[in-house]
This record gives sequence, C-alpha cells and structure tokens, in this order.
Amino acid sequence: MATAVITGGTDGIGRALADEYLRHGFEVLVIGRDERKGRAFTDAGERARFVSADLSSVAENRRLAEHIAGQYPSLDVLVLGARYHRSNRVLTADGFESSFALFYLSRFLLSHGLVGPLGRAEKPVVLNFGGAGQTGPVRWDDLQLEHGYHGVRAMGHAGRLNDLLGVDFADTYADTGIRYVLNHPGVVVTSFAGEYDPVTAEQVDHLRITGKPVATAVAQILPFLGATGEGQNGEAQGGLTAVLEGHRVPLEPGVWNLGEARRLRDLTRDLLAQADRRLA
Ligand SMILES: NC(=O)c1ccc[n+]([C@@H]2O[C@H](COP(=O)([O-])OP(=O)(O)OC[C@H]3O[C@@H](n4cnc5c(N)ncnc54)[C@H](OP(=O)(O)O)[C@@H]3O)[C@@H](O)[C@H]2O)c1
Repeated sequence: MATAVITGGTDGIGRALADEYLRHGFEVLVIGRDERKGRAFTDAGERARFVSADLSSVAENRRLAEHIAGQYPSLDVLVLGARYHRSNRVLTADGFESSFALFYLSRFLLSHGLVGPLGRAEKPVVLNFGGAGQTGPVRWDDLQLEHGYHGVRAMGHAGRLNDLLGVDFADTYADTGIRYVLNHPGVVVTSFAGEYDPVTAEQVDHLRITGKPVATAVAQILPFLGATGEGQNGEAQGGLTAVLEGHRVPLEPGVWNLGEARRLRDLTRDLLAQADRRLA
C-alpha cells in the first residue's frame, strides 16, 4: 500500500492533504502534538494513523524518523508542514531558536533521516513548505536571529533555509529518484498556530478574511506532487521543483545556490553536533 507521512497533518493544509491521500487509498500517518486532533483524524479509518511528537525537539525528530523507518519499509510521500509562529523569541530545550528548530531543523532531520524508505518507493516525493525563492538572504552571521528577532521575519528566514535544504537534498540524493518540492502556498486560512503579539494578531485576523481557502491551496499543490494520479506539473530541475501559489518558480542560480546550500548543510551538522555534546 502507498504511504504518506505528514507533519502538521493534524490541522490546516497538512490535514487537508492527509484527507486527500486517504481518499486516494494511501496509508497516512499524521504528526502533531494535539491528541484530540490526532484522534479526529484516526476516526477516518484504519489507514489513518497518528503519532504525537514535539518536532521542535531534535530527539523527537530522530525518534520519529526511526519509528517511520521501522513501520514503513518504503515511503511514497513525505510532507513537512508543522509550523508554530512565535512573536517572542523562545529557545527550545535543546537551546535552538524555536522557529529555526521547528520550521527548519525538524525538516532537515526528517528529510535526511527518511532517505532510506523514500528511496525504496516507486515515485517518492518530499513536499516542504519553503520560501520558494520569495524570501530575503540568509543571515549567515546570525542564523537563529539573536539580533532583531521578529516572528514574521523568523518564519521567512526559515523559509529561505528550507529552500537551501531542498537544493542540497536534490543534489546529494540525485541518484535516488526522490523529488523535492518546495511550495509557498500564499496566504491560506488555516489555524495559524502560534502565539501572537497584539499587532501581529490583528494582522492575522485580517489574513483570515483575505486568505484563500485550504481547498484552493491544496488544488494548487497536488498537481506538483504527482502521487495522487494528478500527474506532475512542470519540469523539475535535477529533482527539485519550487512552486509559488500553483506556479512553478524558475530556479535562478543566484537564488538557488548550491554553494550556499552546502554551506548551510555543514553549518547545520555542526550545530547539531554541538547540541549533542551539550546535552551529553
Ligand atoms: N497558512 C498560510 O497562510 C501559510 C503561508 C505560507 C506558508 N504556509 C506553510 O504551510 C504549512 C502548513 O501551514 P498551516 O497554516 O496549514 O498550519 P496550521 O494550520 O497553523 O497548523 C500547524 C500544524 O503544525 C503542527 N505543529 C505545531 N507545532 C508543532 C510542534 N512543536 N511539533 C509538531 N507539530 C506541531 C500543528 O499540530 P498540533 O496542533 O497537533 O500540535 C498543526 O498540525 C506550514 O509549513 C506553513 O509555514 C502557510
């Protein structure tokens, strides 16, 4: 049976994608923290599974990758969609800035950690909600935004890091057949999970009025995944596709830079090794 694993699959776009894959006969495992939302999904039937995990924790991501690899010898679809906005800068128990940890590090750990099962699927695809080239440059001197932190900026910055994760992933695993799709859905009316200061909360209330419905976003995403019988829209370049609101984004070398992507991969590995030493 075809399988899909969806982080952030208990709500918003992730939940809608989970329902879509269920309809297409997949076994679908969603990951979130909220047991109540998890149960609401598993009520859909025995192909609907839920695992609770706090993906801002490095250990939880590693535990999850191990669990998935044990459960699913091959994995057709991996969706990386967990997010949580924080207007105030907060550190995780591992000492990472929380958006960096959840929006980027988790996706780094799960992307690399699940290459084995993905590589054994017939047409494997990873969907990561990155910046799709729409964000500013990497803050190389301050990756976790110690200076000038703003919640919206932190999400945008992590989006850029995810774009570079996709560039490096597609290059590193070019011979595996795994496609990596970076999607920016535009503004979509979801739960907008997070803790907002009054100014940002007001902006989010406005987005709830102006944003597009989840169903519209999903209809714009699915054609690029090609695993639900919808076909693959647009040519991927070397396994990497970037999509902005249903339109393929050209992979200009200046933005989609392999040198920067490798630099970020090496820095990320160093940061993880430092955290492992700290916590040992
Ligand atoms: N909505 C938009 O306008 C928009 C715009 C651009 C990009 N995106 C991207 O689209 C993706 C989906 O966003 P969305 O708006 O649909 O999400 P959402 O409705 O805000 O839901 C967030 C999801 O993340 C999970 N989550 C939050 N913190 C977590 C944690 N620490 N560990 C594990 N799971 C956690 C939540 O699960 P629990 O509640 O069960 O913990 C929930 O399933 C995200 O990557 C987002 O950045 C969305």
